[in-house]
Amino acid sequence: MKFLSWIKNRVRRRGQVEHHVPLGLAIRSHWLTGQDAEIEVDRSDGVSYTIRSREFFSIEGRLEALDEQSLQEARGRVLDVGAGAGRHSLRLQEAGHEVVAVDISPLCVEVMHQRGVEQVRVADIFSLDAEEFGDFDTVLFLMQSIGIAGSGFGLERLLLSLAPRLRRGGQVLLDSSPLLGTRSDCGPSLEGIDVSFSYQGVAGEPFSWLYLDEKSLAEISESLGWKTQILARTATGEYLARLLPPEKETTHPGVG
Ligand SMILES: C[S@@+](CC[C@H](N)C(=O)[O-])C[C@H]1O[C@@H](n2cnc3c(N)ncnc32)[C@H](O)[C@@H]1O
Repeated sequence: MKFLSWIKNRVRRRGQVEHHVPLGLAIRSHWLTGQDAEIEVDRSDGVSYTIRSREFFSIEGRLEALDEQSLQEARGRVLDVGAGAGRHSLRLQEAGHEVVAVDISPLCVEVMHQRGVEQVRVADIFSLDAEEFGDFDTVLFLMQSIGIAGSGFGLERLLLSLAPRLRRGGQVLLDSSPLLGTRSDCGPSLEGIDVSFSYQGVAGEPFSWLYLDEKSLAEISESLGWKTQILARTATGEYLARLLPPEKETTHPGVG
């Protein structure tokens, strides 16, 4: 069967699959059956919890106010990074934005395509092809997708690669929070933390996820010439931020 061999090809060392496969399987199952699925999350600091697949299909929920605000703040041509099942892309498309949704998971991309996201591609945000994707007014990292950066160094790499992709007046919108759980009283860490997902016995490889406190975000972005604005905060520690890239240098005709 084609789908089973697709999964088998994704099995890596120790019987684990690529990190994004369990989440992709849960989202695909939810889309096909309408049944809420549980994704198990294990962190290397010993904290474990579950995420429900329904969270990827609706804006409603604990972080609804942050999500709604980020949708209001989006302008022009939008890149939705780590778009999951496309809940933000679909809303922005309905509001008349041109949206390009990208996700590293081919299963998520298949679901988004079937749900009606018009421009959706499998892509790793660390190697976005400039010619293929063009430039944007807004780049979104929602549901803490900035965690993809993996570390403070990864965030620097990401911002350096995104700056040329932003049009004049362009912005990055992201939500994040400091690491909540056992290590939270150890202060901010820019090393990221290993996280692994599993779904119905299919275990993903661990990958590094960055939990970003406001101060570290401001320090990293400002060291690269970006401006940081905190747009909203929740009582439980999450925040929504806007990052503005360094002004592009203009060349004056007739000078030099
Ligand atoms: C926390 S989920 C957020 C989903 C979506 N933004 C939402 O709010 O429903 C993070 C998403 O990022 C995707 N992802 C992980 N690493 C990625 C990468 N390097 N490039 C693009 N997408 C990635 C995952 O497959 C997953 O769908």
